[in-house]
Amino acid sequence: MSTASPPAGHERNADQIAYWNGEAGKLWTDRQPVQDIVLAPVTDKLIARIDAQPGQRVLDVGCGTGAISLQLASQVGPSGRVLGIDISAPMLERARERAANDASADFVLADATVHAFDPASFDLLVSRFGVMFFADPVLSFRNLRAALRPKGRLVFACWREPRENGWMMAPLMAVYKHVPKLPQVAPEDPGPFAFADEARVKRILGEAGFADIAMEACPLTFDIAAGLGLEAAVQGALQMGPASRALEGHPGGVVDAAVQSIRDALAPFARGQQVLLPGAIWIVTARAS
Ligand SMILES: C[S@@+](CC[C@H](N)C(=O)[O-])C[C@H]1O[C@@H](n2cnc3c(N)ncnc32)[C@H](O)[C@@H]1O
Repeated sequence: MSTASPPAGHERNADQIAYWNGEAGKLWTDRQPVQDIVLAPVTDKLIARIDAQPGQRVLDVGCGTGAISLQLASQVGPSGRVLGIDISAPMLERARERAANDASADFVLADATVHAFDPASFDLLVSRFGVMFFADPVLSFRNLRAALRPKGRLVFACWREPRENGWMMAPLMAVYKHVPKLPQVAPEDPGPFAFADEARVKRILGEAGFADIAMEACPLTFDIAAGLGLEAAVQGALQMGPASRALEGHPGGVVDAAVQSIRDALAPFARGQQVLLPGAIWIVTARAS
């Protein structure tokens, strides 16, 4: 377990700081090898769009266990630098372990909304699913923009709407045959789908001082079993995400029936040891104006 204390951060991010330093941060850390396989289609697309060059300075926001930071560090090389920032002590500890021999990668445990970055010190601002959790996104992106040099580029991946993400909805709908639905999340509340709405993202980035904002819709296929078979996909749905949360506190018999429904729902998507479901992300690009 991590020995570092969670960062103080912006007071309105306190819930997220507690969340990512609690059970969620521990689960993401434990599942890091699997998550990196499941999310490989996003990584490939994002890394290609970032197109990092030797010598560049890159800031990876909400870097988690460091998958994107590490790939970019190998691309920018010894003359470049990648700084990963995250509020989760356990996830950042894993990132530091993975980067032990990489002089180009550095990590800071801090809240991106308020961290005092050196002004205009980065060429690129990137993120894989790390920018949808800010209580005040405009304030946060203003702070991040100030860290970018003039005309520096922003490239990040965020989820499109839940209904386009069958990898998450299929297990959740199976669980809802047995337990009540989770409380509705307001579309602008911090969370994985907070940036699903194109107009909202463009407004936030515009108000934060970005220009040339573009959003590319990318349909993808996710192997939620990470090549480990149907049971691994079922267990993954039970460990993380809304299906697992909906089952919390329910008696064993109900959970067992729900697990069988998840298995039945995922079985048609099994191809050998893979379980392939559809999903959809935005790749968002912009420039510091
Ligand atoms: C869905 S995870 C993605 C992690 C990683 N980028 C990946 O793709 O594996 C979201 C990450 O954003 C981080 N995060 C949330 N709010 C943050 C903030 N205000 N400042 C820095 N990191 C934040 C969380 O701690 C978590 O690691």
